[in-house]
Amino acid sequence: MPNQKQKAHSNSASWWTVARSEEVTSKKPLSSDIGNQELVLWRDAAGIARAMEDRCPHRRAPLSRGCVRENGLIQCGYHGWSYDGETGRLREIPNMKSEQRFPPLYKAQSFAVAESGGLVRVCLIPGAVAPVTNAVALPLHGTAHVALAHEHYLSAFFDDPGMLFGMSGVEFTPYLASELKVEAGRLVMERNCQWRGLHWPSSFSSEFPITLLSKTDPVTGETELTLRDDALHELLTAVIAPVPAARGITAIRWRARLASRLDGLRAKRLLIGAPFRVFETVDATALRRLTPSASVQGQDLRAAIIQTSQASAA
Ligand code: FES
Repeated sequence: MPNQKQKAHSNSASWWTVARSEEVTSKKPLSSDIGNQELVLWRDAAGIARAMEDRCPHRRAPLSRGCVRENGLIQCGYHGWSYDGETGRLREIPNMKSEQRFPPLYKAQSFAVAESGGLVRVCLIPGAVAPVTNAVALPLHGTAHVALAHEHYLSAFFDDPGMLFGMSGVEFTPYLASELKVEAGRLVMERNCQWRGLHWPSSFSSEFPITLLSKTDPVTGETELTLRDDALHELLTAVIAPVPAARGITAIRWRARLASRLDGLRAKRLLIGAPFRVFETVDATALRRLTPSASVQGQDLRAAIIQTSQASAA
């Protein structure tokens, strides 16, 4: 059964992106979290990403302050006990005599891990089966921490994504090319965009040379983004994965890729500077004044999808 911490963010068997693949190594444990559930991540001797509660079952020291041993076990930095990431079992105690047995009480909480597309995801439901995916890792990537709660981060995304991330030379408009709708369990929306400076700020323009298509998981908020031109050629694709972290922070891991071919001078503006970036700060004054629009419908749709998936899982 999930414990109290795990219940807070365990709606259905959700998979939360807790790290980028590059961050999880066999050299050093990585601290992460999903809400109040603290996690430690590392790679075992076979290179498989592992996740456990970031607390040693012995005296509760954070395992992320320990080390990863050559045999792939994680070792607590306090008294040196070592644990197996797949099962959470205690495997070694320094100076233990061969005739002694491990006390069964000391077993760490391990979690299911799924890695694909250069992102490491964890499900807090014990025994969860990882989704099968053949996603490839997009080459540009990063992590940002924003002092905004996960729920508000998602609302801001639906109402004005330009407050949260930027694409070089692109201006997101308030106008939707298609209303928010549900497709295959995702919230799908297409937003009209302009090339910055060429038409902007003509708010009366009815011609939009580019659009931003987004597909959002209703629980986690993980979103696939596709910027495309009016001939539906993909210019930039990205994944942003916002995860509730401690103290009301939202941690965002992201990956992005520019199209291999960008036709036209305007599309080449994506090559100037960073093509895609996630902001570490949000303009609080502008956010406060942001009129709720798509987020209102988004909240209703999210609640309906979650309710349906919970009913079918029961
Ligand atoms: S607290 Fe971890 S081994 Fe003692």
